[in-house]
Parts: sequence; structure tokens; C-alpha cells
Amino acid sequence: MNAQGTPPPGGPANPYATGHEVALDQGHVAGTGGVPDRFENPGLPPHVYRAADVDKKSAKRAERQVVALFLVSVISSFAFLAIYFTLPQNKYVFIPFFGHLNIQHTLFGLCLGLSLLGIGLGAVHWAKTLMPDTESIEERHSLASSPQTRRELVETLHEGAADAQIKRRPLIKMAGGAALGLFAIPPLVQVVGALGPLGKTGQLRETFWQPGMRLMRDPENTPIRASDLSLGSVMHVLPEHINEPLEKLPEKYAPKGGPYHNDQELHILDRKAKAAVLVMRLKEEDFKVAKVREWGYQGIVAYNKICTHAGCPVGLYEQQTHHLLCPCHQSTFDVTMDCEVIFGPAKRPLPQLKITVDDEGYLIAEQGFTVPVGPSHWTKY
Ligand code: FES
Repeated sequence: MNAQGTPPPGGPANPYATGHEVALDQGHVAGTGGVPDRFENPGLPPHVYRAADVDKKSAKRAERQVVALFLVSVISSFAFLAIYFTLPQNKYVFIPFFGHLNIQHTLFGLCLGLSLLGIGLGAVHWAKTLMPDTESIEERHSLASSPQTRRELVETLHEGAADAQIKRRPLIKMAGGAALGLFAIPPLVQVVGALGPLGKTGQLRETFWQPGMRLMRDPENTPIRASDLSLGSVMHVLPEHINEPLEKLPEKYAPKGGPYHNDQELHILDRKAKAAVLVMRLKEEDFKVAKVREWGYQGIVAYNKICTHAGCPVGLYEQQTHHLLCPCHQSTFDVTMDCEVIFGPAKRPLPQLKITVDDEGYLIAEQGFTVPVGPSHWTKY
């Protein structure tokens, strides 16, 4: 047939004809243009009863299977919580093809997966074996239902709920409810734990900086006196002890939850990446926000170097305008305004490190960072 619907010369009347079309041509079509008025109702195939419909023992067995599946979910949720509160965050295991995997995170994934799988399989098995399986027919009618139909619908729904036997099978109801209820808790604990102010938490704010740590020139690793910084100067700085392996760290500076990496070198790199700070000296009267002045020392202020957009190092300081620039996507931070973003895609100011001087006149951190450094979810140092 060509584009106009004409059969090709010498070919069959309709080269694409199927049995169905032939049947229509032979009498099931009425009206004009070959459009069928109606199709014959093919009816429903005979209903096949499931084992649980006709055999009480099968129904009981199916019920036990559903409960077992929901219990898998419950146990997995509890296992998640146990892992969260007992396993250290910083242990890794090497698995061929996957490389080094964080044990805690891997187990989290397994538990959450099993928990969800238990709920899913339990619900599907319940629906397939025990929920009503009868075919219902509803004749078509105009779209707006009459009040009578709506009343009937409500009654049907009530009947359906009764047929679903939820009341008659309280064990499933309880196990399913427990599985669904508990499934929400592990992610909640994880999120609140990571972001909130509780014990294992506040991790996003943590870097290597701790109160009393000296600011050290990088890469010389020498302490800095306030007088070493002239007006307009900028210096790249890291915390004291940053290059020391864990066993040599003074007790008070040892990481609370252990190192983030088993690998010492990686651990030190990780520390450095998050703790890098830029120190600048401005005239005190240039600061437009009192907090910047108060958290600094005689016009010397320290800001985290990691861009809050995507984590590039903010490296360019414009002495005249007191702007810090990120070379990656040109986010610009105004130092006089507490490093507020004045241009570019970054959404948060750079975090300020509160500094002062020690008895010997060296610059020290008065406290660690009080807000998360970097773009979003850096891990613990
Ligand atoms: S990473 Fe700094 S602007 Fe994108």
C-alpha cells in the first residue's frame, strides 16, 4: 500500500492484512469507513482457584511465608542499627573486583537492601497468595458517577478490606506494620546522626583543627607570628601536627573515631584537603561584619580554602577588593563580609576559623570550624 492507501499494482488487495482485519471485513464491521461499531465481548476465562483459596493448610503456609519475609526486613533494620552503633566507620576490606570497601557502609547497604527486599517480597507474596483473586466487572458508564454509585463504591471498598482479611490475620498486620515502620528508622538515624549535634555527629563540621593548634606555613611547616603578616598579604596555612602519623599525634589531638583511612598516607592527605586555610591581613576598619573582626586577630583572618560549590581550592586573593576567587567556576567571596558569596554558583560562604595568639605570640586556632567545610558531605577527618 502506498502513502495514499492504494494497493501496489499487481499486489494483494491489502498486503498487510491480518486475520483480525479479515474477520472484521467478514461481518463484524458496521457503519462507514470500515470502523467497527463494537467488538464482541470475549468474556472472561474460567476462574482458577489458588491453593490458598481452597486449602486452609496452604493458606496458613502462605501466611507464615509472608510473615517470614516481613521478619527478614525487621531483622535487617535492627542489624543496620547495631552496625551503626557498634562498628567503627573507618575499617576497610579488600574485595577482588570491588577494591577497598568501607565495611560499615557496605553492611549498611546490605541491611537496607534486605530490609526493602523483605517488605517488597512479603507484600507481593501476600497479594499473590492470600489477597482476593476474583475478577470484577464494571460496566462502562458516563464519567460522573451518581451518588448511588459512589455509595456503592464505598461499600465495595469496605467489603474489599474485609475480604483482604487484614483483621483476620493480625500476625501479618503486625509483622508488615513493624517492617514498614522500622524501615524508615535506619536512614533517619543515619541522616540525623551525620548532620545533627549528637555524639557521633557533627562530623561534617570536623576537620583536623582543634583549639590551641598553631597555624603553620605550608609547605615550610613553621609557626606564624602576627607580625609575620604584613597588610594585604595572604598565606597558605595548615594546622600543627598535620603531617604526623597517628601514633605520634599528641593524645589530645588523636581523632575521636579513629582515622578515616586505614592507609596512613591517604589519611594525611585527607586531613590536609579539609583543613587547608588561607590567612589574610586587612585593615580592621575594612571589615563590614563585626564577627569577622572578632574571630580574627588584629586584622588577620583565616578562612577554609575549599570552595563551597564543588570543592576546588580557592586560590586567588584580590588585595584591592578583598575578594577570594575560585578558579573552577569563578565563585567570588568577599572577605570583608565574612566571605559571603558575591558571584558564581557557590551557595555558602567559606567557613571562618576563629584565631588568636598563644603565650609565645604565635597564631593559634581558638576552636575548630563551627560549620561544615567544603561543598556538602565531606567525611570525618
Ligand atoms: S568549585 Fe568553586 S566555583 Fe565551582
